[in-house]
Amino acid sequence: MTIRRLLRGRVSGAELEAVARETAVRQDTEFESVRLLEANNWLSTPAVVNGEFFVKIITRQNTILQGLLTTGRNLGAFSSGNEAFFERFDTPLEMAEHELAATREMCALGVNAPEPLEAFEHEGDGVLVLEYLPVFETLDDLDRATAEQVAPDLFGALARMHQAGLAHGDLRGENVLVAEDSLYFIDATNVREGAIDQARAYDVACALAALEPLVGPTVAVETAAEHHPTDVLVAAEGYLDFVNLRPDHAFETPPLRGEIQRTVESSANS
Ligand SMILES: Nc1ncnc2c1ncn2[C@@H]1O[C@H](COP(=O)(O)OP(=O)(O)O)[C@@H](O)[C@H]1O
Ligand SMILES: [Mg+2]
Repeated sequence: MTIRRLLRGRVSGAELEAVARETAVRQDTEFESVRLLEANNWLSTPAVVNGEFFVKIITRQNTILQGLLTTGRNLGAFSSGNEAFFERFDTPLEMAEHELAATREMCALGVNAPEPLEAFEHEGDGVLVLEYLPVFETLDDLDRATAEQVAPDLFGALARMHQAGLAHGDLRGENVLVAEDSLYFIDATNVREGAIDQARAYDVACALAALEPLVGPTVAVETAAEHHPTDVLVAAEGYLDFVNLRPDHAFETPPLRGEIQRTVESSANS
């Protein structure tokens, strides 16, 4: 087995079909089909069963890699002068159960997410089952007009989560799906209890980072300021360099900083 395959923790064809069949039984339907989804994924194997159920299979290796990444992210947060707040999972089932619980909480708050169905364990793998969205774009694929249109929903949904003591923790373009102009939040991560303030600022920093290349810094910060208090924006500014370390970001830090400072000054003067 190559190190790449070991790290990737891909499931075998036999395991994929067995998980798909168990999903069908549990969802009280006949098994018809399973197909892997095209995703360049290191943390899970996503598939669709019967064209109806989104199934995310998490192996032991996925959990180990997630733990390593979590340690790295905590170190990154720490070295950029912020407290560490990401939490790791011990087992694949725990990862799947956490994501199911987070998805349920988002739905209960009226935040759009694919309908959460169940989490279970299969031969040591964790399995999460959600409603399958057949057609969507990801946030980072949107054109400027659509991005401007959905930006208030993005910051509004985050504010609603934060007020309820929930944080997303891994907000990036590919984890926000857009279908029929509605945002669907997926892939919420685990944040240490008692660290909601830091996680809140980090979420807002991630949202600014995702939006800045699409709508520019002024609209991004103005929209954020409509939904989040000034102290959160200031704290978010402290996370921008840390967010910028992530390879999947293409935003400019200085203009965002400038806009945040302008917003803070104008709110202090008003
Ligand atoms: N409910 C869903 N319906 C259809 N596709 C989905 C759904 N949820 C996720 N996906 C697709 O599967 C990919 C991987 O899912 P995600 O939960 O982000 O897994 P990971 O934790 O491995 O990043 C997403 O980037 C998205 O393209
Ligand atoms: Mg993801």
